[in-house]
Amino acid sequence: MSNLLEIKQLRTSFSTLRGKVDAIRGVDLCVRENEILGIVGESGSGKSVTMKSVMGLLPKSAKVSADSLLYKGEDLLKKSEKQLQKYRGREMAMIFQDPMTALNPLRTIGYHLTEVIRRYRKVSKAEAEKIAVEMLRQVGIPSPEARMKQYPHEFSGGMRQRVVISMALCCEPSLLIADEPTTALDVTIQAQILDLLKQLKKDRGMSMVLISHDMGVMANMCDRIAVMYGGVLVEEGTVDEIFYHPQHPYTKDLLRSIPRPEITRGSRLQAIDGAPPSLHDLPAGCPSATRCAHATERCFAEMPAVTAFSATQNARCHLLAEKEA
Ligand SMILES: Nc1ncnc2c1ncn2[C@@H]1O[C@H](COP(=O)(O)OP(=O)(O)O)[C@@H](O)[C@H]1O
Ligand SMILES: [Mg+2]
Repeated sequence: MSNLLEIKQLRTSFSTLRGKVDAIRGVDLCVRENEILGIVGESGSGKSVTMKSVMGLLPKSAKVSADSLLYKGEDLLKKSEKQLQKYRGREMAMIFQDPMTALNPLRTIGYHLTEVIRRYRKVSKAEAEKIAVEMLRQVGIPSPEARMKQYPHEFSGGMRQRVVISMALCCEPSLLIADEPTTALDVTIQAQILDLLKQLKKDRGMSMVLISHDMGVMANMCDRIAVMYGGVLVEEGTVDEIFYHPQHPYTKDLLRSIPRPEITRGSRLQAIDGAPPSLHDLPAGCPSATRCAHATERCFAEMPAVTAFSATQNARCHLLAEKEA
């Protein structure tokens, strides 16, 4: 399978009143054609910032750098702002936990959709409306013609998320990034939205990045999983590798924190001993050193290199590297 998106050594920092925060510290990540890649990790581990860096959705206080950000083989870092606009929104679209951030409460749903459609396609207003109705139908919104005339507040949370998904799909993106798309929804609605995303991905042959802190969601949805912690990608592998042969101590902790034996939807990450590191005084070495039962002096001092366990699985951990050596 070829790579749709290839991130090499992404570094993102923010200038804040308390000084510089290194939120992403050298992340390498690929999204393959036609896969669902999950990014999992506790709150604050850098999942959203990683994908927002690629999408160009960060505030001005953010400084994004990378060796390369290849999308379909083209380096996004070498594109002009105008060229980038073509990629972001059209080739890649991103949806978030709270659909209201993407919706204007004063505008009808029909307005939102036709606006997006006409921004990217040369069609008349009437044609755009026809496409919009069809889009709403595709994401499972009943009576789409009538719904077009309604306002966001007349929709339930789940229906609003469906609207936002339909807006994201208007330009037929090759990559959909869904950032905790169901975290704000009830469990039954969550399952429906996840099923919809999976179906849309299949029907359209898109790739998807699904960000979640919910291991159950990951198990049900993803082909591969990347585990992030403290701005570092600590492990990646296929779903089976991550769930049945986790290597990194942090991945093992994450898995221990979900109810066993069944990995079910809605099983949230429970507390792991210790707090996530403050990004203001991160150890120079492994981000999880402060919480790792096996950490040695070297773990605190030196960032571990990547150790490969298979063609698809690797992890950053000194102990694993020493064991393999
Ligand atoms: N606008 C910002 N200004 C300063 N720091 C930020 C900003 N956005 C994110 N961060 C930092 O980046 C870290 C990673 O954030 P984020 O990617 O949103 O985490 P998550 O894994 O929960 O999505 C946060 O802990 C925070 O310290
Ligand atoms: Mg986030």
